[in-house]
Amino acid sequence: MPIRIADLSAHDAQSWLPDALSVYVTAMNYPMGTEVQRAPLWHEHTQRPGWQAVGAYESLGPASGRETLVGIAYGYSGAHDQWWNQQVRSGLLRAGSSRERVGAITDNYFELTELHVHPSAQGQQIGEAILTRLLDGRTEPQVLLSTPEVDAENNRAWRLYRRLGFADVLRGFSFAGDPRPFAVLGRALPLR
Ligand SMILES: CC(C)(COP(=O)(O)OP(=O)(O)OC[C@H]1O[C@@H](n2cnc3c(N)ncnc32)[C@H](O)[C@@H]1OP(=O)(O)O)[C@@H](O)C(=O)NCCC(=O)NCCS
Repeated sequence: MPIRIADLSAHDAQSWLPDALSVYVTAMNYPMGTEVQRAPLWHEHTQRPGWQAVGAYESLGPASGRETLVGIAYGYSGAHDQWWNQQVRSGLLRAGSSRERVGAITDNYFELTELHVHPSAQGQQIGEAILTRLLDGRTEPQVLLSTPEVDAENNRAWRLYRRLGFADVLRGFSFAGDPRPFAVLGRALPLR
């Protein structure tokens, strides 16, 4: 079915946020109910400086004229007063990075906060399409993200990030309150 890629706006977040959270919970295989917990945070993120979001809509068929959200990507400008920024800064310092290097990485970047495609729509380059649309035109010199570590980097998220040239910033990193190991990856902008 045809896919339409569209920018999502903060002011009508109520119209797309429930579907976006449902894509997220299904794609990440999180327990039902996680979307209710996460909704206030996703909503708060829409108010952050530089927030931008892109959605992928799949047509439900020409006869119905309807479409459903199957992909979501969003992020915002990183800043020192944000929890994620503070976690990454202290992780870099603990890993032995100099203050200069920590500043170069965390002073000015776009944070790719969420990127998810519904499992029924994965494998068609929709993730790549919404990510590249999101990053096109950003003014920050780099983009950073965190993703769970997986054996041999063997999942679609890792393959996509590596294909697009993301490099290691921190590996095996634990965010406060989450026992899972994460990687922080980054790459210079523009993408192309
Ligand atoms: C990560 C995710 C967003 C990627 O979206 P996607 O639409 O499935 O993936 P892509 O856009 O990379 O496209 C995937 C397929 O397109 C094809 N493809 C991509 N680039 C291609 C190219 N240049 N030429 C030919 N085929 C290509 C490949 O078959 C690829 O499949 P593969 O990853 O198995 O090798 C999605 O899989 C997802 O939501 N995963 C679960 C949630 C998650 O992990 N989110 C990220 C958390 S940080």
